[in-house]
Amino acid sequence: MHEHLTVVRHPLVQHKLTIMRDKETSTNSFRRLLREISQLLAYEITREMELTTRRIETPLCAMDAPEIDGKKLALISILRAGNGLLDGVLELIPAARVGFVGLYRDEKTLQPVQYYYKVPSRLEDRLVIALDPMLATGNSSAAAIDLLKNSGATNIRFMCLLAAPEGVKRMKEAHPDVPIVTAAVDERLNELGYIVPGLGDAGDRMFGTK
Ligand code: URA
Repeated sequence: MHEHLTVVRHPLVQHKLTIMRDKETSTNSFRRLLREISQLLAYEITREMELTTRRIETPLCAMDAPEIDGKKLALISILRAGNGLLDGVLELIPAARVGFVGLYRDEKTLQPVQYYYKVPSRLEDRLVIALDPMLATGNSSAAAIDLLKNSGATNIRFMCLLAAPEGVKRMKEAHPDVPIVTAAVDERLNELGYIVPGLGDAGDRMFGTK
């Protein structure tokens, strides 16, 4: 994957995203749609994974059949909203290893504060996909990627549902080597750090809190 930013414009993704943005959409539907979109984004973000071949016997003959090369990839959920993407991606890639980064956004400074960190071993040998539905200021995403790099990760991709231009810019400055895959880049951030038009607080909408 060479582009820094990939917007997945597939009609299924865009249609589902519209339903998610609608404030009348229930928690139940929001969660289901997020799971579905996460699988379509995962399809895109894993497009260029390396393949090798394995000798197998079909009922008819032997063949060298393709399979994914290397160590199991690592999915890193940036808590708590990352879990909404994690569920769907894990259904698609059930053998993946899973890690969690707990960061909350200080409401006043909008800066990330770490409260949890647990990731799989040997990150340096894995494709690492960081998951966070909302790339807003980019501060917490950039901080999460810093932590993953400190743990040895060198091949990292970032999956989100929605991005603000400010977040994309921040990530490009901080981590130009980390491709971003998203369903849309919205207009801007508001003064509270929310993406506009956006979909509100992704965590609240998927977990029914607030
Ligand atoms: N986090 C969210 O959940 N929503 C936004 O709009 C920005 C950050």
